[in-house]
Amino acid sequence: MILCSQSQGASVFDEQGNEFLDFLGGYGSLNLGHNHPEIFEAVQKVSHLPNILQAAINNIPAALARNLAELAPGNLNKAFFCNSGAESVEGALKLAKITTGRKKIIYCHNSFHGKTIGALSVTGREKYQAPFKPLLEECIGIPFGDLSSLKDQLSPGDGAAFIVEPLQGEGGIIEPPPLYISKAKKLCSQYGTLFIADEVQTGLGRTGDLFACQLEGVSPDILCLAKSLGGGLMPIGAYITTDDIWRKAYGTMDKALLHTSTFGGNTLACAAALKTLEVTVRDELHLQAREKGSYFIGRLRQLKEKYPSQRCTGSWADDWYRVSTTPG
Ligand SMILES: Cc1ncc(COP(=O)(O)O)c(C=O)c1O
Repeated sequence: MILCSQSQGASVFDEQGNEFLDFLGGYGSLNLGHNHPEIFEAVQKVSHLPNILQAAINNIPAALARNLAELAPGNLNKAFFCNSGAESVEGALKLAKITTGRKKIIYCHNSFHGKTIGALSVTGREKYQAPFKPLLEECIGIPFGDLSSLKDQLSPGDGAAFIVEPLQGEGGIIEPPPLYISKAKKLCSQYGTLFIADEVQTGLGRTGDLFACQLEGVSPDILCLAKSLGGGLMPIGAYITTDDIWRKAYGTMDKALLHTSTFGGNTLACAAALKTLEVTVRDELHLQAREKGSYFIGRLRQLKEKYPSQRCTGSWADDWYRVSTTPG
């Protein structure tokens, strides 16, 4: 364990000035690296504005919502802001339930969606779930990448949502078989089940496109974001959905306040996120991820050949999972 005394970009430095490349990247929250100066500056620039003012519409979150709508796939144009990935998943699950009037949530084995009770209930990791059981009812786990299990669960027509990471992050950087995401989305639409893409980790350029579901041309019904959205500086999460879903869920005065978050949409976090989107697009981080991803995977494969080791076999993932950072 090193005692870190400084960090900048992809590097951290110990007290002796030794430089280390940070490959953990804040579990995916440092797409822009450590201490990006433009994010600090953006936060500083709004320091005269009220940070939290529930009584009036604030133009910083409004601008962020607009820019997200511009960048997000399809007609995702309504954003709800919160403070973490788990909170965005909680919001997405509630949105699916109230919109469809159904209760069942389908999720994947080996997935990770957060550790609050709702998010944990759809996180396919027994280790994390076991000490907290019973969790939410009617959450059904299926193998990641398995369309026939998905169809079995969808076909009774009682599924509120299918939640999935387009590429499993915490579970070990696991890609599904080609076209899994697009076929799963089609199946969900067929059975009136909302498709939630959890891009808390894969979003904002990490997989070679701005959002991983775009690699298969998929526009989810609900898109969850967090982590790097805050530019590595501010905690912020969001879910984005369509106008139609939003109106069905919360579009009347009696329902408008059914899901809220006190710090959600605060000025400082939204200013950081606005700048993050600008830098991400301007610096074409998704293209950088492609280029660097191909470089790393190529060199790692060379190392694998040079130093062969016993690979785990017999796991459910073994047959067709490809561990790679390159898209498609
Ligand atoms: C895909 C995914 N969803 C949700 C979360 C939870 O995010 P947070 O730790 O901000 O609650 C994570 C965190 O690793 C994640 O990888």
